[in-house]
Amino acid sequence: MLISTSISSLLAPIAEDMAQVDRVIRTQLASDVSLIQDVSKYIIGAGGKRLRPALLLLFARALGYEGAHHHLLAAVVECIHTATLLHDDVVDDSTLRRGHHTANTVFGNPASVLVGDFLYSRAFQMMVVPGNIRVMQILADATNTIAEGEVLQLLNMHDPALNQARYLQVIRFKTAKLFEAAARLGAVLAQANASTEEAAAKYGQHIGTAFQLIDDLLDYSADAASLGKNIGDDLREGKSTLPLIFLLEHGTPEQQALTRQAIEEGGTPHFDKIYAAIQSSGALDYTQKCAEREVDAAAAAIAQLPASPFQNSLLELCAFSVQRQS
Ligand code: IPE
Ligand code: IPE
Ligand code: MG
Ligand code: MG
Repeated sequence: MLISTSISSLLAPIAEDMAQVDRVIRTQLASDVSLIQDVSKYIIGAGGKRLRPALLLLFARALGYEGAHHHLLAAVVECIHTATLLHDDVVDDSTLRRGHHTANTVFGNPASVLVGDFLYSRAFQMMVVPGNIRVMQILADATNTIAEGEVLQLLNMHDPALNQARYLQVIRFKTAKLFEAAARLGAVLAQANASTEEAAAKYGQHIGTAFQLIDDLLDYSADAASLGKNIGDDLREGKSTLPLIFLLEHGTPEQQALTRQAIEEGGTPHFDKIYAAIQSSGALDYTQKCAEREVDAAAAAIAQLPASPFQNSLLELCAFSVQRQS
């Protein structure tokens, strides 16, 4: 497995569960259609942090779940995530994912879109197995909200008037919703009471929001080798994220004009100047602080959970999410 060492030590209390989830995912990729196997094994084999299934397992364990459906549902969450990545890389025209050429680069856009559909629909086949209507409702709603988030983001492309509130709505939909669903499912499996379930959901929503804020920051500050994705993709696409929204408000008039033009036109003719302006303007600090506020709220949401190695991992994941470089 290619889970990074820092993540795997954080997830030590559920290491055996995570290995089981990996087995379920690999088994569920089976299809007689060879291209499905080729594309899905390619992207799954490249690794990934597996954070969303980890949230489900940690909440299930922290709340005392002893049943048999947690591995299957954690695998469902990862299959949905992987489907969104296959589609997202087509939409974003991205060429690097998990340190490898994206599936769309290797197999083409049609194969990526269609195998993404296969993974979504396989996830739906899997999620009905426990026969729990609440579980199906949570996953169906989350999948629908992710799609809304991606479409909303499409509508926001090339719009320099995008403000922080509209940006936050997109990232809550496209990213935080699946973290929220994963955490909530752990609580639902464990038959937690309503307030504990809401605490888990709140944790997921806040850590997921922080996670995307940092993803958007890393698009301007990481290096491709450690991130496993190209940096500068957002600006190239004309996708405005929090660092750019900050620069549009606080940069010099020249920086503001350049940023507005870059969002409207996409491409990267002025990437170096905008990159430098982002570094010097405080945009990265501001984005980092926003992410830290989100993980503080996530940690506060689970303060009342019984102390356990699982709760501890959930707290450590908060710190990881805002310190990560990959
Ligand atoms: C990538 O998610 C998509 C975002 C929501 C930013 P991850 O960074 O969790 O991707 P993998 O699964 O670890 O590759
Ligand atoms: C996350 O947004 C996409 C999904 C939730 C599917 P990004 O487009 O920023 O994710 P990366 O950077 O490509 O992983
Ligand atoms: Mg993308
Ligand atoms: Mg990104």
